[in-house]
Amino acid sequence: MPDLHKSSDPHLSDVLIVGSGAAGLTAALNLAGRFRVTVLAKGGLDEGATAWAQGGIAAVLEEGDTFEQHIEDTMIAGAGLNDRGVVEMVVERAPAAIHRLEALGVPFATEGSALHLTREGGHSHRRIVHVADATGWAVQEALLRAAAAHPNIRLVPDQVAIDLATSRHEERYSGAGNVWGVYAVDRTSGHVGLFTARATILATGGAGRTYLFSTAPRGATGDGIAMAWRAGCRVSNMEFMQFHPTCLYNLDVKNFLITEAVRGEGGWLLNPRTGHRYMPDLDPRAELAPRDIVARANDAEIKRDGLDYVHLDISHQPPEFVRGHFPTIYEKLLGLGIDITRQPIPVVPAQHYTCGGIVVDRDGRTDLPGLYAAGECTQSGLHGANRLASNSLLECFVFGDAAAAHIAAQWDALPPVPAIRGWDESRVADSDEEVVIKQNWTEIRRFMWNYVGIVRTTKRLERARTRIRMMTEEVADYYGQFRVTPDLIELRNLLQTADLIVRSALHRHESRGLHYTLDYPETLPVAVDTVLVP
Ligand code: FAD
Ligand code: SIN
Repeated sequence: MPDLHKSSDPHLSDVLIVGSGAAGLTAALNLAGRFRVTVLAKGGLDEGATAWAQGGIAAVLEEGDTFEQHIEDTMIAGAGLNDRGVVEMVVERAPAAIHRLEALGVPFATEGSALHLTREGGHSHRRIVHVADATGWAVQEALLRAAAAHPNIRLVPDQVAIDLATSRHEERYSGAGNVWGVYAVDRTSGHVGLFTARATILATGGAGRTYLFSTAPRGATGDGIAMAWRAGCRVSNMEFMQFHPTCLYNLDVKNFLITEAVRGEGGWLLNPRTGHRYMPDLDPRAELAPRDIVARANDAEIKRDGLDYVHLDISHQPPEFVRGHFPTIYEKLLGLGIDITRQPIPVVPAQHYTCGGIVVDRDGRTDLPGLYAAGECTQSGLHGANRLASNSLLECFVFGDAAAAHIAAQWDALPPVPAIRGWDESRVADSDEEVVIKQNWTEIRRFMWNYVGIVRTTKRLERARTRIRMMTEEVADYYGQFRVTPDLIELRNLLQTADLIVRSALHRHESRGLHYTLDYPETLPVAVDTVLVP
């Protein structure tokens, strides 16, 4: 990666973007022609989920495929909760988004003069553009290179946003509800700074690390969702946590994804004890059924037979085909002693994607003036009760664009930033009890996995709720006494997000899409979003 740091003061900008993944950088590049843009990341600039994406990006590019079919596939996966207008908007803008990425230099795989399209679950056509099995890395690199080269974009890593600066923080208090930026702690110095802007975009990614087993990166702690909720935004559909059916089972490497494209290119799921291929018994689409169905099937197989994992096998395909399509997975697993051209891969389901989030409209606007959001931290209406594979990077590009376009169009109506109070540390001390953070962090992730996982019951959800109540008091007490640290900020957000997930799950008295509960196994005739109002 090039040296991405620029020297000018990033604390004052026209637009502040929290998050340097696909959503944040897409917005930044769209705004930078007219505005000074600051982009914050809480660690390295390439440490979000974007860089980890494997499979690719869905777009209608195959002859014979149509927007209508991509829309229908998305709506079927979403189980009645998608907003059709949003689905149409995203699907129709997909080909242009791909062409913009090509123009930025993303080296998508080709077949002759056309893009090579792979297949994933729930898609009725080959529709996934990709860079072998490391699409996200290539996309992240291209976006970062373009952003780093732009004179109007300041990329600032290692700034952990704590909370939004709102009208409550104005020196002359106003109840208008505007958002003016964020307070963030510098990972290196521990200093809390104020980053202000007329418009702020949250592009902070998902909340996968609420769960013990997740394919998501370490930083996926729901920070943007929790910050927006605390500031007064509605949050919706948090019960719809997507579990990926095939995360590598390995005691040392805990969260390595085996892309769905392995099944798209012919991989089978087998019971390791009997060798039986079970998916054709359960769904006519077999291994290419939507993720919720395949994840539940793997979970059921593991639980019924007391297994540690099931097998994903692509060794019946020619070795050069396997190595050519999945070079990253091939190399990684070879290093772990598994030759995927000859052996099956042990896999388990793991949390993978947060379908719910901050409520946004088609312009990426949240409930608060001056605050926008895009990408995995949002509930835009695209995914409904279950995200169709490879629709999420697409959402980042389309909504990153849409938010930027709205800010540019409304610029003159956005009021200038008033004087905002600095961060007050006068009543806190350095912690002498960091054990509280570690203890709670592990406990949350464990009970969320056991009680709020793939198959739920009301009793288990209530157990989780009781624990969250106790821990909320403990964490609030700790937060009130001690200086903020990145770990404390993440713990507070993890707990907040867990609470939103459990409350949403308890609210839904049916099974739909990713929310499956033994107490309400039926799907109600009318589909209604869960909307939590702060
Ligand atoms: P991210 O890329 O996650 O970026 C979040 C950013 O926010 C980071 O820069 C982070 O530092 C910053 N941030 C977070 N909190 C704070 C804070 N408090 N302060 C400052 N900064 C903060 N989707 C697809 O469409 N196709 C795929 O093939 C695919 N494969 C995937 C494979 C894996 C292993 C995973 C985990 C996900 C995959 N997904 C895929 C999902 C997709 O990668 C994500 O939904 C998408 O990249 C999210 O992008 P984003 O811009 O919203 O957030
Ligand atoms: C995968 O490659 O299986 C992940 C695709 C996605 O999450 O959209």
